[in-house]
Amino acid sequence: MSKTFDVIVIGAGPGGYIAAIRAAQLGMNVACIDEWKNASGGPAPGGTCTNVGCIPSKALLQSSEHFEQANHHFADHGISAKDVKMDVAKMLARKDTVVKQNNDGILYLFKKNKVTFFHGRGSFASKSEAGYEIKVSGKAEESLTAKDIIIATGSSARALPGVPFDEENILSNDGALRVGAVPKKLALIGSGVIGLEMGSVWRRLGAEVTILEGLPTFLGAVDEQIAKEAKKIFDKQGLNIQLGVKVGDIKSSKKGVSVNYTNAKGEAQSLDVDKLIVSIGRVPNTTGLNPEAIGLQLDERGAILVDADCKTALPGVWAVGDVVRGPMLAHKAEEEGVAVAERIAGQHGHVDFNLVPWVIYTSPEIAWVGRTEQQLKADGVAYKSGTFPFLANGRARALGDTTGMVKMLADATTDEILGVHIIGPQASELISEATVAMAFKASAEDIARICHAHPSLSESTKEAALAVDKRTLNF
Ligand code: FAD
Ligand code: NAI
Repeated sequence: MSKTFDVIVIGAGPGGYIAAIRAAQLGMNVACIDEWKNASGGPAPGGTCTNVGCIPSKALLQSSEHFEQANHHFADHGISAKDVKMDVAKMLARKDTVVKQNNDGILYLFKKNKVTFFHGRGSFASKSEAGYEIKVSGKAEESLTAKDIIIATGSSARALPGVPFDEENILSNDGALRVGAVPKKLALIGSGVIGLEMGSVWRRLGAEVTILEGLPTFLGAVDEQIAKEAKKIFDKQGLNIQLGVKVGDIKSSKKGVSVNYTNAKGEAQSLDVDKLIVSIGRVPNTTGLNPEAIGLQLDERGAILVDADCKTALPGVWAVGDVVRGPMLAHKAEEEGVAVAERIAGQHGHVDFNLVPWVIYTSPEIAWVGRTEQQLKADGVAYKSGTFPFLANGRARALGDTTGMVKMLADATTDEILGVHIIGPQASELISEATVAMAFKASAEDIARICHAHPSLSESTKEAALAVDKRTLNF
């Protein structure tokens, strides 16, 4: 007999587990199915984000940053730390603990909110008057039925054609987070978000890192001025980023990986490394979902076709997060999950896709929200720009980290903030003020007139707002 629910969520990543909790909060009887297994075969809800994405990568970024600080920056504070060593096994074990805390936290939240969790793979079986039947294949086989289904099956790493991941030498994000010893030489293909974050982790720990990027421009989606600054800083740190390359043959052996490529000048090159991380984007995950059983449409990229409200063409079938169009970000998935649960409950859930912040957790961090200068130019919008360097910020000086700047772009006529772009310390935290301000349609002058704590990095945002009106006080 099929168990009946109001809503079935397939996938317990940030899109799915948050949708399940919100639907339960709204009084619905909710099931959530997820197939991720931990090392002992038990459930590990949280998806890519918790298991092999946001959380473990930030744990390693933190550990490696401490190592970098101890080796290169403690001395500035009068602290001598000789023979600083990195115990990679301990670093990885700590990361695993952080992941487990998050897995357990989600299982606790399911209990607290009375979401019924099923560990296994969910796939569409049939469609009838009663709703959609989902088969769960795990330790036990189950049949579940609901009138509303939320698909949140996420994404997987894209492999280079003909170069499958072996997670030993040729690594996806999964293997990249489990490398057991610091590779002497490491190559990454793709200088996007993963390339820069994982490249930074292993460079800080002592690897010689080369990043091969296909496009001739560095971080094309980032504001040009910020991207230029970032490239200068990463070059100085010793990340060897080569742009405009064409990757050719890749051979893996016991000794390591050999990568043939053509550089921007058209010269044939060969690079021998211990490990290769391929970070060239991700593909929507519909493996095993059996969308054909109910006639669910995918787009040309294999993503589930949805409208702006995450509705598919089938009544009661919704999809959120990485498996649909839009940026592949955990917070975007979460916002869509909440909005869909609210729509199912007859409310008016809303996601403002123009106000999804981005953060690259390198050192310095890069964060932005809204439009870049190049986008405003392309859109023909008249704008004013104000920048303020962290070099002139007292807190940044006290921290000993004065790299980067805050840049604010505002409408030339109305002064409404159109974009904020930050490279510098704690940009990931600073960007929230900009997002909130933009959500409230603030002008640059609004921020300029608001009292900011002193000394704080956020004073740089206020000063960038003052700079829009050419009246910085500290620069
Ligand atoms: P996922 O998190 O991928 O979850 C999908 C879940 O569905 C998985 O648990 C999967 O096992 C399960 N599933 C799939 N098919 C089935 C099925 N048929 N039956 C049952 N279960 C199924 N984003 C950020 O915002 N900030 C970051 O700092 C960040 N860092 C990242 C670092 C790395 C290395 C990577 C790879 C990604 C990072 N991301 C980050 C992106 C973020 O992880 C994704 O955008 C986010 O996880 C998407 O959430 P989701 O719920 O759509 O899918
Ligand atoms: P990405 O899209 O950020 O970057 C991929 C890069 O690879 C691009 O610069 C692209 O031009 C390049 N590329 C593609 N094919 C290539 C080829 N054949 N040869 C050489 N270069 C090639 O994708 P990435 O880094 O894999 O990350 C996937 C997604 O995961 C991100 O887009 C983001 O949505 C999410 N993510 C978010 C993080 C965050 O928010 N801090 C951290 C890590 C991942």
